[in-house]
Amino acid sequence: MTDGWLADTRSSYDVDAVGYAAKVDGLLDARPDLRAGLALFADLIRDAGGGTVADIGCGPGYVTRHLRDLGVEAFGIDLSSEMVALARRDHPDLRFEVGTMTDLDLGDDSLAGVVAFWSVIHVPDRAVPGVFAEFHRVVRPGGSLLVGFHVGQDAHHTRAHHMSEGYSGRTIAVDSYHRPSATMARWLRDAGFTIEAELLMRPDEEVPGAILFARSRR
Ligand SMILES: C[S@@+](CC[C@H](N)C(=O)[O-])C[C@H]1O[C@@H](n2cnc3c(N)ncnc32)[C@H](O)[C@@H]1O
Repeated sequence: MTDGWLADTRSSYDVDAVGYAAKVDGLLDARPDLRAGLALFADLIRDAGGGTVADIGCGPGYVTRHLRDLGVEAFGIDLSSEMVALARRDHPDLRFEVGTMTDLDLGDDSLAGVVAFWSVIHVPDRAVPGVFAEFHRVVRPGGSLLVGFHVGQDAHHTRAHHMSEGYSGRTIAVDSYHRPSATMARWLRDAGFTIEAELLMRPDEEVPGAILFARSRR
């Protein structure tokens, strides 16, 4: 890894894996909108014939678990080896690997789909097109992609937020980006995806969330 943001993001989540896992504990139980997004994704995968799905930037693995419970053959990948260790501990029956979305150790067209649940939020603008090209390389034609992200208030530009204190008060150094949906959709189209649906969540809050559902075209 040569890029500073990758090393910083990895070491930050290594330092605060436990704090992050505590923060998101029970999240899906409290968020029917997130569950609806994952249910739609599971239906898209099933209707296209099923197959393996990678949850990329899986963190502690609760989304991977939820997808499995919905009948999706999901496994997890994360940059942080501490996160992967936590995910393996909490879900010993599932597969989790250390890896980076910038250079996936997966074959071309090897997946039915990819989920990136609030993980592309740490990728700087200059690196997002390369990440979406990687997603397109590994997802077979007709396969599905789910990207969840923070939506920025500025309709045209990405806004960066630097976090120097972790979820449990530990010192970290990670940037998190809030982006317009239109920017994310443009990057996805440029990488070879067609947008199928968009779910905007909590638009009245300071930082809304959004999920884009996209299909890979050749
Ligand atoms: C905000 S957390 C989201 C975790 C989980 N998907 C969730 O929704 O709770 C971001 C996760 O993305 C991972 N991540 C960041 N950059 C990554 C990269 N380049 N490749 C793989 N994972 C990455 C981090 O290690 C962290 O676990």
